[in-house]
Amino acid sequence: MTITGAGESVTGNSVNYDRLQELKSFDESKAGVKGLVDAGITKIPRIFVRPPEDLAGDGHNSGEPTNIQITIPVIDLSDIVGRRADKVAGVRRAAEEVGFFQVVNHGIAEKVLEDMLKAARGFHELPREVKADYYTRELMRKVKYGSNFDLYESRFANWRDTLFCVMGPEPLDPQELPLVCRDITMEYSKQVRKLGITLFELLSEALGLKPDHLIGLDCAKGHLLLSHYYPACPEPKMTLGTTKHSDPDFLTILLQDHIGGLQVLHQNHYIDVPPVPGALVVNVGDLLQLISNNRFKSVEHQVLANHLGPRVSVACFFTPHLYPSTMIYGPIKELLSEDSPPVYRETSMRDFIAYYDEKGLDGNSALTHFELQRGKQGNKGI
Ligand code: OGA
Ligand code: NI
Repeated sequence: MTITGAGESVTGNSVNYDRLQELKSFDESKAGVKGLVDAGITKIPRIFVRPPEDLAGDGHNSGEPTNIQITIPVIDLSDIVGRRADKVAGVRRAAEEVGFFQVVNHGIAEKVLEDMLKAARGFHELPREVKADYYTRELMRKVKYGSNFDLYESRFANWRDTLFCVMGPEPLDPQELPLVCRDITMEYSKQVRKLGITLFELLSEALGLKPDHLIGLDCAKGHLLLSHYYPACPEPKMTLGTTKHSDPDFLTILLQDHIGGLQVLHQNHYIDVPPVPGALVVNVGDLLQLISNNRFKSVEHQVLANHLGPRVSVACFFTPHLYPSTMIYGPIKELLSEDSPPVYRETSMRDFIAYYDEKGLDGNSALTHFELQRGKQGNKGI
């Protein structure tokens, strides 16, 4: 979109208003979407309204019944030693065909999951003044609270606040975390990282590689925890909790509460990712699609806003993010052949992240930018 300055019209929106000014005052409140809800609003501010062409141009169902039968696979991770081949096959199918799956019996106790969700909620429900100390858009801060990382770039703001914590590879000093979620964040971080390693081993084998191949590429070297808070929304149909996007990492492990609203785009239809008590949602990120040369799919997903709420989720992103090494990422050589030539060019982590952040959540995949000349490689895309 274009922001043409004070009083001028905003592309695709017939209302004339000073959008930039409204974005700034929202940002400067340092109170996030939660602050608006606490103030008792009954209509969503204009900056959150999804432009009509966005809704119309969506072209996907938005919750209407469809005859698409696909559901998000649920993989039982118990006995992954004894029944290795089954588990590898399950992970392969899910990563190749859907890009999303849920895992149960993953080794993280339900109490840890519950406490993590409670603590995430506890942070967002702290008094405004306490949270304001963490509110920043500084790129290099390891622990920060904010609303809409792409506030000034996106066409409409999302009904969501986030606490963002960089947990590795350099250990985070627990003192940097808000007290209300300190201990459980350290504990959950440790356990979810361990689960991540198990998943990278299964995914490596699913690609026909040695179990430690993806770990060797530093896929689990860094991880971030994003604690999202989606307040109850007075006009949920007019905005979104999270705009359609794919994740800028190797892999995401998501802990969601019981509310629901996460949807995955599959063959032009949104499929719900139903909350399953005790389960974790796993999805392939853009970087894993890139290095697997499109074997695994990083699929687009969105989160609906809801009258019910708040909804809380904690996403663990496996990405070196703040500590990009000099390692260059491109399609894994062992996966290339005459029949499957490279689809992507090589890139550094720094370039990839810079491109994703600059682009913001605009509904388009960042991966397209890293494709080798399109058409020549017989890339069918996803
Ligand atoms: C994300 C994401 C989904 C959710 O953090 O990238 O897609 O349910 N989160 O919060
Ligand atoms: Ni996501």
